[in-house]
Amino acid sequence: MPPTLFLTVVAGMLCYVSSGPDSSTTIAPITPGLSLRLADTYNYCEGRVEIYYEGAWGTVCGNNWDIEDARVVCRQLGCGDAVAAFPWPKFGEGSGRILLDNVQCKGDEAYLWECENRGWGIHDCTHEQDATVLCQDEIYKPTGTVGDVLSLQLVGGPNECAGRIEVTYFASWRTVVCSKGWDLNDAEVVCRQFGCGHALAALGNGLFGSGQGGPLMTNVDCSGDEYDLLSCPYEYRPATCGGYPDAAVICSDSGVAPPDLQDFAIQLVNSSNRCEGRIEVYYNGTWGTVCDDDWDMNDAQVVCREIGCGDAISALGEAPFGEGNGNIWLSNLQCKGTESHLWQCKHLGWGTHGCHSVEVAGIICKGLP
Ligand SMILES: *[C@@H]1O[C@H](CO)[C@@H](O)[C@H](O)[C@H]1NC(C)=O
Ligand SMILES: *[C@@H]1O[C@H](CO)[C@@H](O)[C@H](O)[C@H]1NC(C)=O
Repeated sequence: MPPTLFLTVVAGMLCYVSSGPDSSTTIAPITPGLSLRLADTYNYCEGRVEIYYEGAWGTVCGNNWDIEDARVVCRQLGCGDAVAAFPWPKFGEGSGRILLDNVQCKGDEAYLWECENRGWGIHDCTHEQDATVLCQDEIYKPTGTVGDVLSLQLVGGPNECAGRIEVTYFASWRTVVCSKGWDLNDAEVVCRQFGCGHALAALGNGLFGSGQGGPLMTNVDCSGDEYDLLSCPYEYRPATCGGYPDAAVICSDSGVAPPDLQDFAIQLVNSSNRCEGRIEVYYNGTWGTVCDDDWDMNDAQVVCREIGCGDAISALGEAPFGEGNGNIWLSNLQCKGTESHLWQCKHLGWGTHGCHSVEVAGIICKGLP
């Protein structure tokens, strides 16, 4: 092909692409932080091969790109067998980093990045060599851009950071995510995707009502690091939810207390002043302490305000007010300082810590405002 003709074709493709509906959709990876998609077509199962790596999408170079490599891509995406492998960008050039070169799959690898290659980011290619694949299956991509390929929203809750997940499909078909296999790692991805902080609860108990329409996703299995919910492995369009109600989440920024935190309480003990002492929190029917790992003024500020003691004066470590009974509920708190409740702050998980009983936090608040 003469160079001018080639360029014309590429420009034509780019034009089609920018006015086209969508340049993304993903499925299937389990490797944390890694994701795979075929970009720049209407069909989910064909396009330029792209990998989400170190926080951004990049391409794969077409050197030695063949049908065995395409086969791994198609299988990883749940798109059946490979039909064709192009060592050039049939649907338009990508941008960003060129992540893999000289990919040589044997054919039985579960993930493209498990195939032999030169190493992440090592290549001598340009985007004129972007690897492209056609797979057997045809799954029409709904319109939209990243994030609203299938538009997500949280509904049925008191605000947009808590509720059941609804997916808008083909702009009119409201449908649901089933709660089979739904857990905190999945909820974490949803909360992050919505800019709602971190996940406090992953629910499947109908707390926020139930949606209508056929389910679109079930058995969602995020590792928690994915770019968005659609980057997680899931089963696509199950016939029914099989008795698992709509998946729902409560994110920290919602200010909504999940069921297990309804009777959460805080007290300061072993001091004559109720606004200073060892912090004890009540969770799951038991009082326990806070470990002093990462304990700082932002965390102390939230505690002092929550118990009506004004601003924090000091955040102390090494059990200045005694060790308590040894039950440590919270560790590595990461409050921003603006939360209304201590349970909204990120931490290692209730009862999860690497602390000795002497590493207990104490606090001095200003006093009654
Ligand atoms: C909460 O208490 C129940 C019953 O005592 C127990 O089975 C469960 O493991 C506890 N949860 C935590 C996080 O400690
Ligand atoms: C109270 O704090 C002191 C340290 O100031 C400690 O020696 C003592 O054991 C604590 N008592 C209780 C009941 O925690």
